Formats: sequence, C-alpha cells, structure tokens
Amino acid sequence: LFIEPRQAAVLNITWHPSLSRRERNELRKQRGFTIWFTGLSASGKSTIATALEQHLLHLGLAAYRLDGDNVRFGLNKDLGFSEKDRNENIRRIAEVAKLFADSSTIALTSFISPYRADRQIARELHAASSHGEDEPIPFIEVFVDIPVEVAEQRDPKGLYKKARAGEIPNFTGISAPYEAPENPEIHVRTDQLTVEECVGKITAYLQSKNLV
Ligand code: PPS
Repeated sequence: LFIEPRQAAVLNITWHPSLSRRERNELRKQRGFTIWFTGLSASGKSTIATALEQHLLHLGLAAYRLDGDNVRFGLNKDLGFSEKDRNENIRRIAEVAKLFADSSTIALTSFISPYRADRQIARELHAASSHGEDEPIPFIEVFVDIPVEVAEQRDPKGLYKKARAGEIPNFTGISAPYEAPENPEIHVRTDQLTVEECVGKITAYLQSKNLV
C-alpha cells in the first residue's frame, strides 16, 4: 500500500507528521469519512451520490463527490479501461478520497470500480490511515445493484448499445467483468427503490454509526 522505508530513503523522502486528525475534526466540528459507491454503468451511482451530497450539504456538513467520468477529464486523463488502467484509476481515487476524508470532509466516490481487489485496496488504505495515533478513517461501501438487463434497458448514454455493436471494447457487464461486493456496508437495489429511498437507507446507516 505504501512506499517501504528503504525505498523512501533511496528517494530522499521523509514522512512529515502533521496535525492529528482528531484535532482537525474537533476544530472543524466534523468527522471525515469515505462513502464508496460501486455498480454497473447506469446503475444509479452518480444520481444517488449526488442526491446524498446535496442532502449532507443541506445539513451543513462538508461533502464532496468524485465522479468516474469527471475525474477522467483531468487527474486520470492518461487512463483508459484496460484492467491495469482501471486498477490505477481506483488506486488514485482511493488516495484522493482518503485525503478529502482526512481533511474532515465526507468524500463520496462514484466509480464502477469493478474489481473486488481494487475496492479492497481502497478499504485497506483507509484502514491503514491511523499512523499510530488516530482512529482509522471510516470506509463505507455502497453496492448500487441493478440487473445488467435493466441497466441495458436504461442505457442513458447509449453506451450499452455501442458496446453490443462492438464499438466499445472492455465494456463492464458486456465484455468486461463486474465483481459484485460480497460484504458491502450498504446494498441498494435501484430497480426496486427510489433515489430518495436509497439516500434514506444510507443516511439511516450513517446515523446508526454516529457519523452524521
Ligand atoms: S472504472 O471501471 O471504475 O475504472 O470506471 P469509471 O472510472 O467509473 O468510469 C466509468 C464511466 O466511463 C464511461 N465508459 C465506460 N464504462 C465502462 N466500461 C467501458 N469500457 C467504458 N468506456 C467509457 C461510462 O460513461 C462510465 O460512466 P457511468 O457513470 O458508470 O455510466
């Protein structure tokens, strides 16, 4: 997950201790954490995450959403959709989300993040964030679940159609895998619940954990 001390010595880099997260959270009167949405294209990840972000902002909490398409316009503009590029996409996003959460902000990420191992790395990065003095940053995985046939019927961007026509290689759910979470903190079926109901379910979970 992190650079080894020996490698750091070769690179002449040193880890600088900063303000403790507890102190930062107390001063900002908010605890940061990451809500990690995962699901097929057109499952509703971005719609739910945006509605939740809005709800949290209305409560007066700092929240910020990182979005799959948007991040690929800038930070990850060098990455495509091969397995290796998706691994790197998710690794970078996990690092960025952790930084947001470390700054006492609620980070919401809406990426397909199709590989279980990548999501596990994201989780472990958060778990390993205590640096021996702080509580680790909470990481909440939300499985935005929809049968692939329903996603294909929705097809708001016409991508499934293109993928079926062979115009998009490695399209998740069609020609590339989606590994569903086995133990997500929250599971929402977006073909059975409204956006408001999904947001309500997530908010209830956050309240039960005293996070909001
Ligand atoms: S990943 O798998 O987590 O790295 O993908 P992500 O960064 O979330 O980007 C997904 C969005 O990219 C568009 N797109 C594709 N999706 C899946 N497979 C392929 N091959 C592909 N090519 C482009 C698509 O708009 C995805 O957005 P969403 O919001 O998920 O529909």
